[in-house]
Amino acid sequence: MPLWKIIEEAGNDLAELCRTADAEVYEPRPPDARTLRPQHGETQRRWVARAGDGTPIGYATLTLPSGKVRVVVRADWRRRGLGSELLQWVRATALADGPATVYGWAAEHSAGHGFLAARFDQPRGSEEWSLLDLRGRQPGLIDDSLAGWSGPCPHALRESFSQAHRMLEVAPRGSASVTASLGVIEERAAFAGERWLTLCARDHAGVITGFTQVTLPSSAPGVAEQEFTGVLPAARGRGLGRRLKTSMLAVLIREHPDVRFLVTQNATGNAPMLAINQRLGFRLYQRQVAWESRLINPG
Ligand SMILES: CC(C)(COP(=O)(O)OP(=O)(O)OC[C@H]1O[C@@H](n2cnc3c(N)ncnc32)[C@H](O)[C@@H]1OP(=O)(O)O)[C@@H](O)C(=O)NCCC(=O)NCCS
Repeated sequence: MPLWKIIEEAGNDLAELCRTADAEVYEPRPPDARTLRPQHGETQRRWVARAGDGTPIGYATLTLPSGKVRVVVRADWRRRGLGSELLQWVRATALADGPATVYGWAAEHSAGHGFLAARFDQPRGSEEWSLLDLRGRQPGLIDDSLAGWSGPCPHALRESFSQAHRMLEVAPRGSASVTASLGVIEERAAFAGERWLTLCARDHAGVITGFTQVTLPSSAPGVAEQEFTGVLPAARGRGLGRRLKTSMLAVLIREHPDVRFLVTQNATGNAPMLAINQRLGFRLYQRQVAWESRLINPG
């Protein structure tokens, strides 16, 4: 008699399994259930493994069109081949009608990383995850020459901000995921119920030369996420990136006292941003590595 049964289903009772796996992988960031939800414009296939009594003991998701894979197995059911079997379902589906390449992320030195290294073809990039503890930190000054807003970009600044926002297209990234336009990113954030803050610098003509964004806590209370910070090439080398980030910290501490931690993710090769973060007091707590497999249809 098989130890488990795997079927494709919505699996609405997976929150606990998801939270436990997130706590293990994303520590010290408080876990949330975001990984189970597809983002705007994405679809997700999901397979659930259940023990004989119906309890969920593992699941796998395949997110389309990106090809992102997540496999989770309850700790007391590991190293019995269940993760590999779940992955076979994902691969079979991707081979039939999915992307040519699938990829997954895991923390370096974790069980997940051992699994990806054993079952995927090659590493695809890595990110440094850092954390800043805001508790007891004195707010610096908010630079009042900067413009700031909450939520979607105001109409008057939209054209200039859209241009500046295109910096994301060439920014160093830990994985090869495609960057979307400003409109799509704002739609996705609104769809996910996120609240976010933007601060930007402008030159004498009013053109936006740099900006920084932070997402406020939604499902993980007390933890905000530092999103992209960029300065246009012509305005670099004058401390603008640091000024933007310092002011954003002051805004968070003064106006959002419920935020206790700020987390951020940077491509391992992005030395300038890692250096700014280190000077601001961020400490590295995890390196996440992506692995990918190219699927070749034998037919
Ligand atoms: C990753 C995970 C799903 C593996 O589940 P599993 O059922 O234990 O996987 P399998 O038994 O099929 O393992 C397959 C192979 O992966 C490798 N592997 C699995 N766990 C490992 C570990 N802790 N250390 C090193 N290698 C490991 C081994 O080569 C293993 O083969 P072996 O047991 O014959 O040596 C499980 O550890 C987990 O849920 N981790 C948290 C979530 C996560 O990080 N997911 C990965 C990112 S998508």
